[in-house]
Amino acid sequence: MTSAPHAADQSRSAGRTSAPNVAIVGVTGAVGQEFLRVLEQRNFPIGELKMLASARSAGKSVAFRDKTYTIEELTEKSFKGVDLALFSAGGSISKKYADAAVAAGAVVVDNSSAFRMTEGVPLVVPEVNPEAIEQAGIKLGEKPGIIANPNCSTIIMLVPVTPLHKAAKAKRIIVSTYQAASGAGAAAMAELEQQSREVLEGKPPTMEIFPFQYAFNLFSHNSDMQPNGYNQEEMKMVHETHKIWNDAKVGVNATCIRVPVMRAHAESITIEFENPIDEATAREVLRQSPGVSLMDDRESNRFPTPLDASDRDNVYVGRIRTDLSVTDGRGLSLFVCGDQIRKGAALNAVQIAELLL
Ligand SMILES: NC(=O)c1ccc[n+]([C@@H]2O[C@H](COP(=O)([O-])OP(=O)(O)OC[C@H]3O[C@@H](n4cnc5c(N)ncnc54)[C@H](OP(=O)(O)O)[C@@H]3O)[C@@H](O)[C@H]2O)c1
Repeated sequence: MTSAPHAADQSRSAGRTSAPNVAIVGVTGAVGQEFLRVLEQRNFPIGELKMLASARSAGKSVAFRDKTYTIEELTEKSFKGVDLALFSAGGSISKKYADAAVAAGAVVVDNSSAFRMTEGVPLVVPEVNPEAIEQAGIKLGEKPGIIANPNCSTIIMLVPVTPLHKAAKAKRIIVSTYQAASGAGAAAMAELEQQSREVLEGKPPTMEIFPFQYAFNLFSHNSDMQPNGYNQEEMKMVHETHKIWNDAKVGVNATCIRVPVMRAHAESITIEFENPIDEATAREVLRQSPGVSLMDDRESNRFPTPLDASDRDNVYVGRIRTDLSVTDGRGLSLFVCGDQIRKGAALNAVQIAELLL
């Protein structure tokens, strides 16, 4: 923890006397690495910076801005002097260490599912419910606490669906996801790449992360199956939507599927509203919505793809059309793509941290 504040950082720290000291927990992972890119690109003010991971990574170097940092092993003592701890090392690690970070005075922004449904922990998408942070009273340097980042599929759905909900009041959402390998972390990306080579070379695919061949295949999401026949990922989309919208009445029915795409999730979303909303109005609402990019060119059959959304901040929306199966123009269908490592994880967490500044 030796770096001096970045010159530009000082000017971004209006409202605080100094730039916050930041710890990144799980810095070697897919989300951890994206944290570094997002913090740098957004010129986030940082006083001192701690890079934390497991004992496996301790001692390795990682570059950030113009400095090289040594990765430290995460322990309960890692958070002395830390104002902001960005966690992305899995739910069990968050459960084990987030309290230690809060006890040391830090605000934790957690990417795992550990605290998302915990009462009193705000679950925040900055474009949707930024007020939840203030309601919880959490303040950088003054009132430590935990803020949860929603599940990536929920974030990517709610960024475009919330403004439509505000316009015509959603009653029911039917969503099918097409989820990328990177959603399951760095090792899953490596497995998809390796399997693709092996299959093309006529060799049997190596299966370590997923129980199925992933290359040239797709399968139901690998999260645990619940007794009700939905998997955990699907139920997260239900429960998290209710918490973020503060509305447990809206119906959500999700089907989550892993597809052999390296990065960025796609979702087919059909919404039934209480009030009519036509395509032109929906398009105009979405055009004016923060975090949304329209890509809806029927003439050229050009709609969002995961590659369009990869490395991008916004959720791309297309195939905006009236649901013909619902009466009175009260239904819409959309196809959306969003980078789940970025908007679904690291960017959303950094946007939360920016709200705290
Ligand atoms: N990938 C996504 O798109 C995405 C989206 C939203 C939320 N999330 C959530 O973010 C978290 C991380 O996901 P990821 O995809 O980045 O996973 P990942 O690529 O597998 O990275 C896991 C990270 O956790 C660290 N870690 C593992 N065990 C640890 C320990 N005992 N102590 C300290 N650090 C430890 C790893 O460090 P080592 O390298 O040292 O093992 C690595 O930095 C998960 O909770 C995931 O559900 C991920």
